[in-house]
Amino acid sequence: ERISLWGGRFADGPAEALAALSKSTDFDWRLAAYDIAGSRAHARVLHRVGLLDDAELDGMIAALDTLEEKVLAHEFTAAESDEDVHSALERGLLEIAGPELGGKLRAGRSRNDQIATLGRMYLRDNARLIAGAVLDTVDALIAQAEAHREVPMPGRTHLQHAQPVLLAHHLLAHAWPLLRDVERFVDFDRRAAVSPYGSGALAGSSLGLDPQAVAAELGFADSVENSIDGTASRDVFAEFAFVSAMIGIDLSRLSEEIILWATKEFSFVALDDAFSTGSSIMPQKKNPDVAELTRGKSGRLIGDLTGLLATLKAMPLAYNRDLQEDKEPVFDAADTLNLLLPAFTGMVATLTFNTEKMEHLAPRGFALATDIAEWLVRQGVPFRVAHELSGAAVKLAESRDVELWDLSDEDYAGISEHLTPAMREVLTTHGSIDSRSSKGGTARSAVAEQLERAQAESARL
Ligand code: ARG
Repeated sequence: ERISLWGGRFADGPAEALAALSKSTDFDWRLAAYDIAGSRAHARVLHRVGLLDDAELDGMIAALDTLEEKVLAHEFTAAESDEDVHSALERGLLEIAGPELGGKLRAGRSRNDQIATLGRMYLRDNARLIAGAVLDTVDALIAQAEAHREVPMPGRTHLQHAQPVLLAHHLLAHAWPLLRDVERFVDFDRRAAVSPYGSGALAGSSLGLDPQAVAAELGFADSVENSIDGTASRDVFAEFAFVSAMIGIDLSRLSEEIILWATKEFSFVALDDAFSTGSSIMPQKKNPDVAELTRGKSGRLIGDLTGLLATLKAMPLAYNRDLQEDKEPVFDAADTLNLLLPAFTGMVATLTFNTEKMEHLAPRGFALATDIAEWLVRQGVPFRVAHELSGAAVKLAESRDVELWDLSDEDYAGISEHLTPAMREVLTTHGSIDSRSSKGGTARSAVAEQLERAQAESARL
């Protein structure tokens, strides 16, 4: 039969339809170990104020330990009649400790402060886990950058050839946003490391329990300043969902490029067999499914964030049952990234680059036109004029269907007296690349320094 948490003022149990609607054990069971940890901490503060004597505390802790073992061994599981993880575990505690002792634990706490606390514990652990997996991706990008320190490729804006860049520079451009995402999780933890336990239903407890002692035992830096805020706010959940979505989007942008690079038309990369899939009908196919699933799942992660924000919008203080909807989006975000990141890292680590093709195409499409203009500027020509002169060279080359370096000295002299043969020093891919040597530029020297800083940042985080 159903053990009700609120039997006193009710003549009858809930309707079956309500019980079915209300039930959350399908998804909140993963918080069971956190709930038991919270119960141990709570038992200790009850003992401190004399609401449990020494023997009762020992009995309570022993019963909670037994309950935890049974939960971990799947010997104790949620019953059909359990509403949520808290009520199920209370049933388990009553079974083990007996109703007399077991019934004392609920004093001074509410499922409202419990769930808010357990959620933060879960998210802090998962933020750490996901950050570690993101750093693995970063390290794979850094390793690929390191292996391709000197390889030029077409740098693009609007997907059009713009200026040659180093492949290492491009790969690191994907690593930095991910490093910032990891930093976002580190920063998130400062706000998540505050425990709502002790807030009670919303107003705090009259039993003199010490929220900071509970917080410390559960690994939090502090307890909340405001019990209403403690039970009603979920901005920490939303922040977790945002950082998760941002990671998904950052991975998706690289995925899109890999998908493009793996086409016959680009042929910039080959995917390792272990990280690509075939077709059931077309024997020749080798598909970039990891990248496509990443792109697809980034949409799902955005959905997790926006769904949660929609749940929170306009919800009055303090706890409302709407808040039960806070868990599935963040659980889904965590599950999605925990599943995705190892596959994504494997795909990146095993990519083979067609460096010859990249290098061949790097300066094409008149990608050195800016170099001509900037060379002219260094000779004292105003940039507006230099831009015009370089543009005239592009026009001439395009009309002849040749590249800029195919124009003769006479062709250049005909465009402007400033365009002397000395200008040809920048008409090479590496001349162009190495000229961009200030901090953050694509020159080999600047990228070598950047690589070191990226490695240091990955090691620091
Ligand atoms: N299962 C609920 C949740 O996930 C916590 C219980 C609070 N329920 C309540 N009726 N006050 O938010």
